[in-house]
Amino acid sequence: MAFKQSLEQIDPNTAEAIDLERERQESTLGMIASENHVSKAVLEAQGSVLTNKYAEGYPGGRYYGGCQHVDTVEELAIERAKELFGVDHVNVQPHSGTQANMGVYFSVLEPGDKILSLSLSHGGHLSHGHNVNFSGQLYDVEQYEVDPETGYIDYDELESHAREFDPDIVVSGSSAYPREFEYDRIGDIADAVDAYHLADIAHVTGLIAAGVHESPVEHAEFVTGSTHKTIRAGRGGIIMCDEEFADDVDSAVFPGAQGGPLMHSVAGKAAGFAEAETDEFQSYAVQTIANANTLADEFDDRGLSLVSGGTDKHLMLVDLRDSHPDITGEEAEELLSDVGIIVNKNTVPGETRSPMVTSGIRVGTPALTTRGFGEKEMKTVADLIVDVLDNPEDEDVHDRAASTVEHLCQEFPIYG
Ligand SMILES: Cc1ncc(COP(=O)(O)O)c(C=O)c1O
Repeated sequence: MAFKQSLEQIDPNTAEAIDLERERQESTLGMIASENHVSKAVLEAQGSVLTNKYAEGYPGGRYYGGCQHVDTVEELAIERAKELFGVDHVNVQPHSGTQANMGVYFSVLEPGDKILSLSLSHGGHLSHGHNVNFSGQLYDVEQYEVDPETGYIDYDELESHAREFDPDIVVSGSSAYPREFEYDRIGDIADAVDAYHLADIAHVTGLIAAGVHESPVEHAEFVTGSTHKTIRAGRGGIIMCDEEFADDVDSAVFPGAQGGPLMHSVAGKAAGFAEAETDEFQSYAVQTIANANTLADEFDDRGLSLVSGGTDKHLMLVDLRDSHPDITGEEAEELLSDVGIIVNKNTVPGETRSPMVTSGIRVGTPALTTRGFGEKEMKTVADLIVDVLDNPEDEDVHDRAASTVEHLCQEFPIYG
């Protein structure tokens, strides 16, 4: 009976693509800052029978019968997140980080209300009001930028901008800003103009859970995040807020923005949050930042320019315009991919090229740190990257880099 057959028997093409993807992850160095590898436990939770269950509503108040066990799972995820982040209220149902932001906007904004957020080309995210995203289409958006000289956010400028624009919500958080946000400062600015502060910690969720990155919880009414970047809880989103906004946020997520929650993803979040409570995870978060610092120092020694001169977290943005003016971000991504180093092209502040071409690459350490890489390996990887960029046409250099990548991958398997 087809129902009981394996994926390979039912759909060999999909099974093969999954096998190849697993092989690709094992045999390349994943340095995309927003990616990571989840544990076997999280994979197990996400691949479970919970995918079968409808559970519209919230634990104890569902629109479907048979929810007793998924209630347990969702309550575990919520309680663990409350503990990890020290917050009053948590919603673990957003299907993604973008939908977490949607949940917050829908809870306190009306169409036409004003958002002030970091510009995409200066490190922000599409869901912070870009015109190709619902957030830019429904709301009136203005954006702040980093100082072109320092690469840091200019908070005085942000304050004047806020006073002039009078936003309803100020968004902090980023996809490619390598420095810590001054959440207290942004909270004060939002208060001064009677706006809410939404801190989108998508990238640094795990670093904050582990206590190695400043938390915005005291300085923002709303905190949103992804659950699959520096925290390894599987793909999804999360919203945290003060108790006074709990009902508004919950009804903005369901029924406002979504239908039934993906309970297998919620189970992944519960398992990943359990892992995040351990000392092992704390050490992982410390190492992720140490590895980023090593990589940044090595890049600097070898003449690459980093936006803001370095990093405070798990990622950095290499601006190729000074060191490699003839190589675009797109070309760098391709050159590195050819030797098994996977990064993404990224716009840089003051970008003149299109987002499909760009003048920079974003490089992150969460996934390599999960594999067990320490500072010694990061130095090797930094050298490989610069060797390849310095010698784009030299096949010997590329062959040597590819072979070192292969050895590193064998020495540090992911799922073994
Ligand atoms: C700052 C920020 N917010 C939100 C998101 C959206 O997350 P998702 O891709 O899960 O919608 C991202 C994703 O990279 C992000 O960097």
